[in-house]
Amino acid sequence: MPFARRQFPARTPRVTPPQLHVLTRPPIPGEFVPPHYFRKLQRAELCNGDRPIEIDLGTGDGGFLMDMAQHFPERDFIGVERLLGRVRKVCRKSRRRGLDNLRVLRLDSKYVVEWLLPEASVSRIHLLCPDPWPKARHHRRRLVQVPFLEAVRKALIPGGEFLFMTDHEEYFEWGVETVAEFGKFERLEWTEDSFFYPKTDFQIQWEGEGKSMFRLRCRKAG
Ligand SMILES: C[S@@+](CC[C@H](N)C(=O)[O-])C[C@H]1O[C@@H](n2cnc3c(N)ncnc32)[C@H](O)[C@@H]1O
Repeated sequence: MPFARRQFPARTPRVTPPQLHVLTRPPIPGEFVPPHYFRKLQRAELCNGDRPIEIDLGTGDGGFLMDMAQHFPERDFIGVERLLGRVRKVCRKSRRRGLDNLRVLRLDSKYVVEWLLPEASVSRIHLLCPDPWPKARHHRRRLVQVPFLEAVRKALIPGGEFLFMTDHEEYFEWGVETVAEFGKFERLEWTEDSFFYPKTDFQIQWEGEGKSMFRLRCRKAG
């Protein structure tokens, strides 16, 4: 019996209301809106000339990012944050402080690192006080996983660094073990006073409650 090819009706692409909002809402002054969401960015689309770029994943209220941008005017900073209200707040405060080397990208951190950042483009990637997803059944939602580290490594320039800080000891141990399993980073020393590193908003809050921070600093070999 001849093979009968099944016919499928032509499908109209569906855009959900949140997607439509992303595509149609006017950009916030100070927001970084990529020229394209479905291909890797080019370095020139991320920053001016060959200035160093630093990325802060899950930037929250942006205290850390703004202090960094003020301290290092010769570098460019991009905060990644999925909550629109926080993006608006950081953009507003950063404009008030006259920081023209800081922009905020409203998107999922994992997507940005794995799909948007160009290879060998970023000097430092910061992941500070991320959600620890403490329940075992939620561990797969943690950002620090081997494929994520592979994408971080690709995005970093030779000698670039990935800095991970958390108050959650078990997530910290998970980070140390995952970096060891990944095996392509060199671990560097990082204590509170190793170099200029402003406190984050959550860090200030948690240290005020008597919690300690755990730090992991990794370098991409040249
Ligand atoms: C606990 S807060 C820490 C904020 C900031 N780093 C600090 O230390 O003050 C985590 C932030 O990451 C954001 N966030 C969580 N998961 C994210 C993701 N997958 N992509 C982008 N932002 C995320 C949350 O909305 C929140 O603002």
